[in-house]
Amino acid sequence: MQALTLSTLWKNAASVPIWRETLSPFVLWAPLLPWNDTSNPPETDLHNVPPTDLLDAASFRSLMSQFTTGVCVVSTLRKEAESTNEIAGITVNSLVSVSLDPLLVCWSLQNQSSQFDLWSGATDFTISILAEGQAELAKRYAARGSSALDAGDYVTSPGGLPVIKGALGFIECRQWSLYQAGDHTMVFGEVIGLSKAPDAKPLGFFRGDFCRIIT
Ligand SMILES: Cc1cc2nc3c(=O)[nH]c(=O)nc-3n(C[C@H](O)[C@H](O)[C@H](O)COP(=O)(O)O)c2cc1C
Repeated sequence: MQALTLSTLWKNAASVPIWRETLSPFVLWAPLLPWNDTSNPPETDLHNVPPTDLLDAASFRSLMSQFTTGVCVVSTLRKEAESTNEIAGITVNSLVSVSLDPLLVCWSLQNQSSQFDLWSGATDFTISILAEGQAELAKRYAARGSSALDAGDYVTSPGGLPVIKGALGFIECRQWSLYQAGDHTMVFGEVIGLSKAPDAKPLGFFRGDFCRIIT
């Protein structure tokens, strides 16, 4: 796992979003310790940790990188012209389950993204929850400026949308609304279909690296 040095954090503070802070050497698998009834959690005495007096993007990003997430690929059919349909995908870890009535999810899209128009304009999209072993695929769809899905990476959902092969499950969504939130836009989707793989392990993301989550 890449060390988070102060200089790295400062260098990236203003311009680089939270999920990209330590991506350059990419996937070093970081197994998380099993944490169940038979093992004791490590003791962390936060009273003995000096509080930081820095309230800025770098310290916020560093703190939030302690929050382990899953990893998804959002995908859609880009309809640029009636004759050319392109299948597009982007790696995200900002998926949130929002509401049960109606069924709503959301993810956050960086306003500065070169793919902003594509994703904010997608009326129908799917969210595939990636499985352990799909870190290479996640890296591919995190590449700057590129969004086309490789033919071998997806299949078509019952609703006619691309979903990632071998994922833990997928959600078919119709865009519900967009909400401006600072330098990101929350993309809300109404769930119009879903499917869950019976038995698979998740891909995780922790401190800027992909990780294995022991279940
Ligand atoms: C693990 C991971 C999670 C990411 N999560 C998000 C996200 O939630 N929202 C987002 O807009 N971009 C996210 N990204 C970045 C995009 O995948 C992609 O790298 C970025 O959009 C590329 O830059 P561009 O949009 O300017 O071309 C994530 C990247 C990685 C590797």
